[in-house]
Amino acid sequence: MKVTVVGSGYVGLVTGTCFADMGNDVWCVDIDEKKIENLKKGVIPIYEPGLEEMVKRNHEEGRLKFTVSLKEGLDESLFVYIAVGTPPGEDGSADLQHVLAVAGEIGRSMERYVIVVNKSTVPVGTADRVRSVIAGELEKRGRGELEFDVVSNPEFLKEGNAIEDFLRADRVIIGTDNVRTAELVKELYDPFQRKGEKILIMDIRSAELTKYAANAMLATRISFMNEVAALCEACGADIEKVREGIGSDSRIGRSFLYAGIGYGGSCFPKDVKAIIQTQKEYGFSPKILPAVEEINRGQRDRFIEKVVKEMGEDLTGKIFAVWGLAFKPQTDDMREAPSIDIIRGLKKRGARFQAFDPVAMNVAKAELGTDGIEYVSAYYDALKGADALLLLTEWHQFRRPDFDKMKSLMKGHVVFDGRNQYDPQKMRERGFLYYCIGRS
Ligand SMILES: NC(=O)c1ccc[n+]([C@@H]2O[C@H](COP(=O)([O-])OP(=O)(O)OC[C@H]3O[C@@H](n4cnc5c(N)ncnc54)[C@H](O)[C@@H]3O)[C@@H](O)[C@H]2O)c1
Repeated sequence: MKVTVVGSGYVGLVTGTCFADMGNDVWCVDIDEKKIENLKKGVIPIYEPGLEEMVKRNHEEGRLKFTVSLKEGLDESLFVYIAVGTPPGEDGSADLQHVLAVAGEIGRSMERYVIVVNKSTVPVGTADRVRSVIAGELEKRGRGELEFDVVSNPEFLKEGNAIEDFLRADRVIIGTDNVRTAELVKELYDPFQRKGEKILIMDIRSAELTKYAANAMLATRISFMNEVAALCEACGADIEKVREGIGSDSRIGRSFLYAGIGYGGSCFPKDVKAIIQTQKEYGFSPKILPAVEEINRGQRDRFIEKVVKEMGEDLTGKIFAVWGLAFKPQTDDMREAPSIDIIRGLKKRGARFQAFDPVAMNVAKAELGTDGIEYVSAYYDALKGADALLLLTEWHQFRRPDFDKMKSLMKGHVVFDGRNQYDPQKMRERGFLYYCIGRS
């Protein structure tokens, strides 16, 4: 089948590449000329395990093409995916300018029937807006007779595991009011879902809301655990034991129950904000999700407080080793990463940093700058002469480090672990002053 994917970021590039890998002919479109030029040369704009090899192979075999011209793809394709960003606007609602810009361009360029599939995360009612923008542009051209459909097909992939998530999704949601269109989109997904039992067809509004409800639920679990973790610290319980205790209940399950320095990334923070705005627009006064947000913001402050309590209000002259900058492992995405607030919060008090992340260093440099932060190329180098270590992203290599080597490199033997990677008892025995989350 012939597919155009507009937006070649985390979602668009993975979507286009996975469709191409199943034998479809795919055009990936982006307005960023440099990104498209690089993609043509096999240079991938993001870090995502397995993506580079898959992009190169499908490009070389002619199924995956890159262009800045939406029309070039549109002329050949039955499906046009919209996978552009929907960042938060000033009031927290999703900013739809990129989605509607693409809709406008589709209306100005299409010459025959297309199925417009919205993969960007968008609020309830967006499909209607996309439809009316396209129809308006067609009217202006005197081509109002041209037919098209708009479908909601939200994406649930996780950065760091995006290809696997796309190839073997827990579910594919197709929101449409047209049975024939549903069948065509389903056909596109059939090679991924050989038994088809994970393809859920529903009305457009339910599909749009499902994406927000899913992210809001996951964010709520994280904030819930962080709130329980604070109670654990106060009453002498251990959040890791509580997590095992509740996670083994099949009604609760084990995922997304980790206490830490809070969620970040390009999705949870903005999607929680956006669903709160939608609730307000429909006359509700949201209660759970503002609390989820507040707890999440508070986790970073609580971590900073722990550091300040141990190391002093004035951190002038103190050097902190930082292990991990990305908002989570296996990605270079720094959007809303807890490391940003934590480093900035401590820097204001005079701290300096020696930071390491396996893949996010360049993105981190652009976000945090180099003033007071030295970016080192090996993680043990970050420890040299450091007064304390801040473990901020749970990359695998930090799980079982050589603790004797750590001690020999560090000036002070203090570890602030924002991701509960080590056993507190063993850390004490190893001679570290160890602070973590929800374990006294
Ligand atoms: N990143 C994730 O893990 C994830 C997961 C599920 C859903 N989503 C949702 O998918 C959408 C895209 O997210 P992302 O992380 O891939 O964003 P991104 O910022 O990585 O990529 C968006 C791309 O769209 C391009 N673009 C913007 N306007 C354009 C236009 N008019 N024409 C062509 N290209 C244009 C940008 O240049 C950029 O390359 C968002 O709505 C997001 O909420 C993201």
